[in-house]
Amino acid sequence: MNNHHHELDRILSALSEANAHEFEAARPMPGSVYHSVRVHEREMQNLFRREWMCLGRSCDLAGEGDYVADRVAGVPVLAVRQANGSLKAFLNACAHRFAQIAVEGNGSRRLFVCPYHAWTYDAAGVLVRAPHMEDLENFDESTHGLREIHVEEWQGFVYVSLAPVRPSPLNARLTQLTDEVVGRYDMARYQTVIRDTMPVAANWKNMIENFIESYHVFVVHAATFATDGKMPTDYVCGPDMAWATCHWGTRTGGEGRSIAHASNTALEGDWRRTTVVVCVFPNHLITLAPDYLWSVTVKPDGVGAMQADWSVAVPPEVLGDVGDAGRAAWLAQLRGFMDAANDEDKPVIEALHRGTAMTPGAGRYHPIERNLWNFACYLERMFKSDTEAT
Ligand code: FES
Ligand SMILES: [Fe+2]
Repeated sequence: MNNHHHELDRILSALSEANAHEFEAARPMPGSVYHSVRVHEREMQNLFRREWMCLGRSCDLAGEGDYVADRVAGVPVLAVRQANGSLKAFLNACAHRFAQIAVEGNGSRRLFVCPYHAWTYDAAGVLVRAPHMEDLENFDESTHGLREIHVEEWQGFVYVSLAPVRPSPLNARLTQLTDEVVGRYDMARYQTVIRDTMPVAANWKNMIENFIESYHVFVVHAATFATDGKMPTDYVCGPDMAWATCHWGTRTGGEGRSIAHASNTALEGDWRRTTVVVCVFPNHLITLAPDYLWSVTVKPDGVGAMQADWSVAVPPEVLGDVGDAGRAAWLAQLRGFMDAANDEDKPVIEALHRGTAMTPGAGRYHPIERNLWNFACYLERMFKSDTEAT
C-alpha cells in the first residue's frame, strides 16, 4: 500500500471512531475529512461521479426542448425535455472531438449545434447533421449520438448520475422521506422565482453541515429566519435514513412567513406551520416551507472552495396573491431576504473550514445536530465502498 492509501485509511478510521455506533456516543467529524486531498479524490470518485446529483427543478424544463446545462464533478452535462414529456440526459460533449456543446444555464432548443464544427443533434441526442462528412467512407451518423447518462425526477427535482451502472432509483431510496415528511407539501407545484449562485471559500461539506442543523439559527439568523420566533427546542429530527436526512420546526404563533396559505387545504394541523430542512445525500439541500422552497446544490471546487447553486420557488397560491402589478417589489423583497440570509451563513461556513485545519479536540453534538451524524455515517459508508474497478 502506498502513502496515499495510508493517509486515507487513517482518516477513515478516525471518521469511524467519531461516528461511533450510536448518536449518543458520536463526535463531530475530524478536521482532516474537510482538508485532505485524498478524501476529496475519494469523494469525486465515490460520490460526485456516481451518486444522483440535482441539476435543478422540473418546472424549469416543462416544454419539449427545454434544457439545463450544468457541470457535475467538472463534467459538463445536459438534461433535455423530450416530446413525450420524459427527460433524457447526456454528457454535454460533442461526439466529434468532444467540445462542450451547450453553454451552462437554462434554455430551450429544437436542435443543439456544436460551436466548433457544427455537428447538430436533436433533443433525443441523435446526430442529425455533420457538415461536409457526407462523402466519408465508414461514417455512420447513427453511431455518433450524444452519450446518454442516467436521469431521474423526484418531487419536482431533476437528478442525473454519471455512474457507469445506473444507481438504485432515487425515488425508491427516498420513499420514507417522501411518504412520511415532504410528500404532503407537493413541492413539485412550486414555481421557481429566483435562481443564482454563490461562491464560498470552504469545503463543500461545511455548507451541507451548516444547512442541516438549526442549532445556529437563533444566533446567526437573528435578523432573518429566527424572526419567526422558533427556538432550538422547537426543532425535531426526522427518522434516521440511508440516503437523506431531515429535521423540522413548527411555528408556535404569529403570522407571516412559513405558514400555509388559506387556500392550501392539503397541509393539515401543525404541518401548516412547519418548515422542513432536508439533505438528499450527498449534496442537495432543501428548505421546504408551506409558502416557499429554497433549494441548494453544493458543488465542490477543490478541497477549500465550493459553489452553491441556489433557487427559491413559491406555490401558485402565494404567487397568485402577489399579482402582476406587485411582482417586482415582492421579488425584490424576497431577494433581499435571501441575500441577507446567505450573507449571514457564508462567514460561519468559511469559519468552519478554517477552524478544522487542525482539529482542536473531540467536539460534541447537540441532540438537534443528529442530521450531521446521519450525513457523517453516509460518508463513512460511501468512502468505504470500493469503486476502484469502475
Ligand atoms: S467538436 Fe463538435 S463539431 Fe467538432
Ligand atoms: Fe444558516
